[in-house]
Amino acid sequence: MCGIVGYAGTAPANGTTTAAGHQALDVLMEGLRRLEYRGYDSAGVAVVAGGAIAMRKKAGKLANLTAELAASPLPDSMTGIGHTRWATHGGPTDKNAHPHVVDGGKLAVIHNGIIENYAPLKARLLQQGHSFISDTDTEVAAVLLGEIYRSLPAGESADGARLTRAMQLAAQRLEGAFTLLAAHADHPGTVVASRRNSPLVVGLGDGENFLGSDVSGFIDYTRRAVELGQDQVVSITADSVAITDFFGAPAEGREYLVDWDAAAAEKDGFPSFMEKEIHDQPEAVAQTLLGRSDVDGKLTLDEMRIDADVLKTVNKIIVLACGTSAYAGQVARYAIEHWCRIPTEVELSHEFRYRDPIVDDKTLIVSLSQSGETMDTLMAVRYAREQGAKTIAICNTNGSTIPRESDAVLYTHAGPEIAVASTKAFLAQITAAYLLGLYLAQLRGNLFQGQIRDILADLAKVPAKIAQVLANDGQIKELARSMADTRSVLFLGRHVGFPVAMEGALKLKELAYIHAEGFAAGELKHGPIALIEEGQPVIVVVPSPRGRDSLHSKVVSNIQEVRARGAKTIVIAEEGDESVRAHAEHVFYIPETTTLLAPLLATVPLQIFACELATAKGYDVDQPRNLAKSVTVE
Ligand code: F6R
Repeated sequence: MCGIVGYAGTAPANGTTTAAGHQALDVLMEGLRRLEYRGYDSAGVAVVAGGAIAMRKKAGKLANLTAELAASPLPDSMTGIGHTRWATHGGPTDKNAHPHVVDGGKLAVIHNGIIENYAPLKARLLQQGHSFISDTDTEVAAVLLGEIYRSLPAGESADGARLTRAMQLAAQRLEGAFTLLAAHADHPGTVVASRRNSPLVVGLGDGENFLGSDVSGFIDYTRRAVELGQDQVVSITADSVAITDFFGAPAEGREYLVDWDAAAAEKDGFPSFMEKEIHDQPEAVAQTLLGRSDVDGKLTLDEMRIDADVLKTVNKIIVLACGTSAYAGQVARYAIEHWCRIPTEVELSHEFRYRDPIVDDKTLIVSLSQSGETMDTLMAVRYAREQGAKTIAICNTNGSTIPRESDAVLYTHAGPEIAVASTKAFLAQITAAYLLGLYLAQLRGNLFQGQIRDILADLAKVPAKIAQVLANDGQIKELARSMADTRSVLFLGRHVGFPVAMEGALKLKELAYIHAEGFAAGELKHGPIALIEEGQPVIVVVPSPRGRDSLHSKVVSNIQEVRARGAKTIVIAEEGDESVRAHAEHVFYIPETTTLLAPLLATVPLQIFACELATAKGYDVDQPRNLAKSVTVE
């Protein structure tokens, strides 16, 4: 939520670039283009030029800022900051857009997060005679920073130390979640930032350095990144990066190499990132499996930094996640309980710590987060650690906060997910959680090695089967287009098909703004069946007839029950399952696999359906209204 980018380079002032540096504005706009998925309520940039701050900002998508810059260009500069906003305090207007420029136009500040004590700070600053233009908490932080800056001796100005010191002191006074970036007219080569509970990564260049909410903010320029810790301040110039805590004590960041490049974050010929990412799924699953087991099916999870003896004594697993990631957790629960015989709960992160949960040193917390920055999940993980639990993060983003604050991490290797609504991360999360389940079963002796080898062999076949589903997407796309005027769709599933149904409904809500609900098929007659009327579309995820005896026939009965009441039934079933044909308007077949692996295939037609229907309605599937990726506020 909110994309942030900062740049300090060595571009000469005549508008050309050197090998070492770029025009700040080019870097900032490219970074914002890549970070726009984090929020698109407004965008703005500020550069330091000629002893002053030059700033442009505009409500709406980045395109509006681009137009503004074309009409009113900024001067050449080697230093600047840029922001793309998901509104929290104050509506999505020009005046609330970032940067906020204070102190007679000398100090520009951008922010991601929520400053919880902004009200008392603002009251005090008002009393002291300061005035505010916007309704944001950010402007309060900017004015506070300016006030502290002016109170410090001017002597340290040359190397930006005064701005850095002011940032440290300001950060000490702020509560809540914030990544703050500041540029000052008196320090033309420096950008200073602070972070608490909000993401910030440093990019290391040659004669230039970068800051970004995540590495996409600078991936066009460097793959060398530095992860920052909690409560840290960083000051960058073209040739230096200095990290301290809020009290000025030097600190170290962890340097790492980003394992994907700028090309991986492009649409690759697809009309949208969403479509590209749906098509990335065979690779996402294959990469997540890669190198984690040997030919005998022995799993070695190198990242598993928790002692084997501790994992052997775990008596409860709690999976923590939100949204799509929580549905991945719900799928994984069936497998983990089945394979490991450890009681497993799945809980929405934001509910978890408010219900006084029973957590102790025998509890294993598995967090699922694509971004690794979801504030609700981060807070839940912290809470669980405080209670003594061991924590494993399943995450798609190297350098992010949740893995850093967990005891161990299992990375999904889905590559960057740019579309706001999650697709490939979902399948990669299920895959990684299955690997974890198998690893625990191996460690605890719940499964024979041969059983694990067979399951891994089935998993290894999944990428090709997903590719098969993708290759046969014509029929589902045609159906989706024909349903563009639909007002409501219900999704039914049972066992692992239940979370798949909920994920299908979520995708349709998010992308096509259609009312959609996912139900456990067995729950239907306990209430939801009252919703069925003539023509109501119901999409049913049918388990394999080769799976557990009664499951398939029960779901087929559920289809008949809704059809008898007028529902238009659309069925996702396993290849060769002819029994469903008589009860369905439309049947979409997925390749054969085991019951537990079926979600990795059955989800795909539902993603395609939502994406195609939303496209038919003319919606932007990459940036659905009101949403943002990486929800860094609670
Ligand atoms: C839905 C979606 C969200 C995320 C949720 C958690 O398409 O993308 O529901 O799954 O916000 O995000 P992460 O996985 O980054 O913690």
